[in-house]
Amino acid sequence: MYTQSFDIYDTIYQLEKDYSIEAEKIDYLLQQLPANPTTILDVACGSGEHAHHLYNKFKYSVDGIDIEPGFVEIAQKKNPSGVFIQGDMSNFDIGRKYDVVLCLFSSIGYVQTKRALCDTLTCIAKHLNSSGYLILEPWLEPTNDLSSLSTIIEAVDPKTKIQVTRKRSAYAEENISVLDIEYSIKLPKETKQFKEQHRLGMFSREEMAEAFQQAELIFTYAEQGLHNKGIYLAKLAV
Ligand SMILES: C[S@@+](CC[C@H](N)C(=O)[O-])C[C@H]1O[C@@H](n2cnc3c(N)ncnc32)[C@H](O)[C@@H]1O
Repeated sequence: MYTQSFDIYDTIYQLEKDYSIEAEKIDYLLQQLPANPTTILDVACGSGEHAHHLYNKFKYSVDGIDIEPGFVEIAQKKNPSGVFIQGDMSNFDIGRKYDVVLCLFSSIGYVQTKRALCDTLTCIAKHLNSSGYLILEPWLEPTNDLSSLSTIIEAVDPKTKIQVTRKRSAYAEENISVLDIEYSIKLPKETKQFKEQHRLGMFSREEMAEAFQQAELIFTYAEQGLHNKGIYLAKLAV
């Protein structure tokens, strides 16, 4: 997955996403909730950008978990007030509950299978306070066209001025979307090149609904999400 690219993630996504605006949207959503949420767990937190803005702008206390140790280290450095740990979202136990769990930017697709989707939502449910909420951004559905995911982008790190090129080809293998990615990083004395393959499960709305139900969560879905996908808002059924 991001084993080789974690340290250029922020350089690439500064072009595609505005985490500051997304944090504002999350805060707006959280302010509509009946309880007054203050504690957040960011599942599949990546480089900890949402945590950074949610803490700095709105003073939420944010912890995070991610499977990629490189991301955990970056997120922890960026967010010294939180606790960031390495773990698999389909099988984790942090030993405490939160007012809000986030699972953003389609990270849920990485679990690939319906079984792991149910396990993930069940794990998340165990980390919610009785009045807590999950905010989840889904990945694509099996009927979606993948052609717009085949892109070439060039980005420059604003601090180091290092130039990164990412060439991505996307195709489907049944209900798995496969992203073959080639990176080229222009360092002062050499150009580093490597490839990664990302595989994300595409779950239908019905499969998502079934998984929420099995995890004993009730949910609403809105087309208008934080970025370019919809959003699920879920809470414990009892
Ligand atoms: C698209 S990135 C999103 C990162 C971050 N949430 C964001 O919005 O920038 C997907 C993230 O999911 C993480 N991930 C993939 N599979 C995972 C798993 N099984 N458990 C925990 N994290 C996982 C990746 O390491 C990566 O950080």
